[in-house]
Amino acid sequence: NWTIENFIEMEIEKIREQVGDKKVLCALSGGVDSSVVAALIHKAIGDQLTCFFVDHGLLRKNEAESVMKTFRDRFQMNVIKVDAQDRFLNKLKGVTDPEQKRKIIGNEFIYVFRDEAEKLKEMDFLAQGTLYTDIIESGTDTAQTIKSHHNVGGLPEDMDFELIEPLNTLFKDEVRRLGLELGVPEEIVWRQPFPGPGLAIRILGEVTEEKLDILRESDAILREEIKHAGLDREIWQYFTVLPNIRSVGVMGDARTYDYTIGIRAVTSVDGMTSDWARIPYEVLERISTRIVNEVEHVNRIVYDITSKPPATIEWE
Ligand code: XMP
Repeated sequence: NWTIENFIEMEIEKIREQVGDKKVLCALSGGVDSSVVAALIHKAIGDQLTCFFVDHGLLRKNEAESVMKTFRDRFQMNVIKVDAQDRFLNKLKGVTDPEQKRKIIGNEFIYVFRDEAEKLKEMDFLAQGTLYTDIIESGTDTAQTIKSHHNVGGLPEDMDFELIEPLNTLFKDEVRRLGLELGVPEEIVWRQPFPGPGLAIRILGEVTEEKLDILRESDAILREEIKHAGLDREIWQYFTVLPNIRSVGVMGDARTYDYTIGIRAVTSVDGMTSDWARIPYEVLERISTRIVNEVEHVNRIVYDITSKPPATIEWE
C-alpha cells in the first residue's frame, strides 16, 4: 500500500542506487517543488547534493533570507547563493514591455549558470521538481518538459546532466504531504504560486529599485494581513501590483502626488481561470490603511475585481 513513508524509503534507495558516489545539482527557487526535491535528495545522499539559489533581486520581502535560513541553517545543505540583483536590474533598465522582461530574465538565468560553469562541472546529475501533472501537460518528451517547466529559467543547452525527477509520479497535494513529512517548513509547503520573473511583472513599465522597494513593502503588509485574517489557504494568489500611475492626495496640510498600489487576490483551482477573492471589507480597510501609512510614496489603494478571463491573474 502507498504511504508517504514507503514512498520516501523507496525513493531514497532508488536515488542512492542511481547516484552512487557522484554529485547532484538542484536549482532552488524557494517554491514547493524544488524545495521538496532538495529535501528528499539531501536525505538520500547528504553532502553529495549541492543547491544553487539565484537571487535575481525580484523576490518578495525576506524571501531570499528565508530560503537560505531554511536550507543552509536548518537542513545544513550545501547551498551556493548567487547574488545577481545588480546584473538583472541593469539588464532591465529602460525595458517596459512585459514579454521583453520575461525574455531578459529567462536569458539572464542562463548566463548566470554559464558564469558558474566551473563550479557546476563536477556535477553529474540535475535534480528537478517535475510533477506528474507537468508530464501530462507537456507530453512525455523530457527535453520539452524541462523547457516549459523550468520556472527558474533554463540551463545552458550544452550543459550535460543526467536528470533525477523523483516527484514525477506525484500530484501537488502529495508533494505537499511529502514536504511536511521531510520537515520542509509550512510557509514553503503552502506557498502561493510565484512567477519566475517575480516582481518584475508586477511593476508596470520600467523596473527600478525604488519601485521594487515600494512593491515589496506593500506586498509584505498585504500578506501579513491576509494571513492574520486566516484567509491565506483560501486565496489562490494574493499580491500587490504597482501600476505606473501617480495621483493627487492630501497628507496633513500638504498635497501629495504619489503612487497607486493595486491589490490582486484571486480564487482558482489551477490558475487557468480565476475569480476575484471576496476579502471582507474590514480586512481590505486594514490593508489599505497600513499601506498608505507605512509605505512611503503611496497615497492610493485600489482593488482589482476582474475575473480571468478576461483579465489575467498577473497584470503583465
Ligand atoms: P496569468 O497572469 O497568465 O497567470 O493569469 C497564471 C499563473 O501563471 C503565473 N505566471 C507565471 N509563472 N512565469 C511563471 O513562472 C511567468 O512568466 C508567469 N506569468 C504568469 C501566475 O502567477 C499565475 O499563477
